[in-house]
Amino acid sequence: MTADRPAPGRRALITGATAGIGESFARQLSAEGWDLILVARDATRLDATAAELTGRYGNRVEVIPADLSTDDGCGRVERRLATGDPVHLLVNNAGLSLSRPFLRSTVADETQLLRLNVHAVLRLTLAALGPMTERGDGAVINVSSVAGFGPVMPGSTYPASKAWVTSFSESIGQSTRASGVHVMALCPGYTRTGYHERTGIDMSAMPRWIWLRADDVVAEALRDLRKGKTVSVPDWKYKLAVASLRHVPRRLLRGAFRDRRGQLDPAGE
Ligand SMILES: NC(=O)c1ccc[n+]([C@@H]2O[C@H](COP(=O)([O-])OP(=O)(O)OC[C@H]3O[C@@H](n4cnc5c(N)ncnc54)[C@H](OP(=O)(O)O)[C@@H]3O)[C@@H](O)[C@H]2O)c1
Repeated sequence: MTADRPAPGRRALITGATAGIGESFARQLSAEGWDLILVARDATRLDATAAELTGRYGNRVEVIPADLSTDDGCGRVERRLATGDPVHLLVNNAGLSLSRPFLRSTVADETQLLRLNVHAVLRLTLAALGPMTERGDGAVINVSSVAGFGPVMPGSTYPASKAWVTSFSESIGQSTRASGVHVMALCPGYTRTGYHERTGIDMSAMPRWIWLRADDVVAEALRDLRKGKTVSVPDWKYKLAVASLRHVPRRLLRGAFRDRRGQLDPAGE
C-alpha cells in the first residue's frame, strides 16, 4: 500500500486539486513530502496552487489543466498516468452535484454529472491501475459521499452517481489487493468547501454541527488508507449515519427523508 511508505520520490495525482477536499489532499500530501500532479479546469488557479505548494514545501508539482467531463480532458490525464515518472497515488476527487432536481434538469446537465462523477473516475482508475498492478505498488482514493448509501436526497441523481463510485471502488479493490494495489472509497458527509455556495445549492437550513472541515476529512482518509480500509467514512456522526442507512429498512428511510417541499425541490448535497 502506497501511503505508508516514506514519501520522498512518491508522486500523487489529484483531480479537483485547487479547492476544497482536493486542495486539502494537495497540502497534506505536500507536507508529507509527496511530489504532486494537480488537475483542474482553471489553469491560472492551478499554477497559483502549484507555486504556493512548491514555495512552502519544496516539492515538485506538475499541473494538467483538463475538463474531466470531456473525452479530451480525460485523455490528457490518462496519458500522464500511463507515461512519465510513475504515479503512486491517484485521488479521483473532482465531482459535481446539480442545483436542480431531476424533473427540472436537462440531459446536458445530467450527462455532465455522469461524465465527471462516474465516467472520469472509471477511466482514470483504469489508466492508473495498469502501471500500478504491474509494479505491485500503488493506491487509488475515489472520493464518493455518504449520500451514496441511501435515499437521502430525494429528486437528485447525485447519490446514484456516488453509490456507483463506492460500489466500483469496493469491487475493483477486491481484485487488485493481491497485486499490492489498494483502492479506497472516501465517503464524506457535508463538508465546508464553498462548493454549495458556488453551485447555488441553498444550505442555510443545515445546522452548524453537521459540517465537517476538509482538513479533518482528508487527515482521516489518509489514516484509513494506511490501515488498509476499503471504505472511509470520516467522523463518528457520519459513521453512525452510514450504519443507519445500511441497516434501517428502505421504506422507513424514504419516509424520513421525503422531500417536504414537494418532489420538485432540490435536495442539496
Ligand atoms: N463538499 C461536500 O459537502 C461534499 C460531501 C461529500 C462528497 N463530496 C465530494 O467531494 C469532492 C470534492 O468536493 P468539494 O466540495 O471539495 O469541491 P469544490 O470545493 O467545489 O472543488 C472542486 C474542485 O474540482 C475542480 N473541478 C470541478 N469540475 C471539474 C471538471 N469538470 N474537471 C476537472 N476539475 C474540475 C475545481 O476546479 P476548476 O473549477 O478549476 O475545474 C476544484 O478544484 C466531490 O467529488 C464531491 O462530490 C463533497
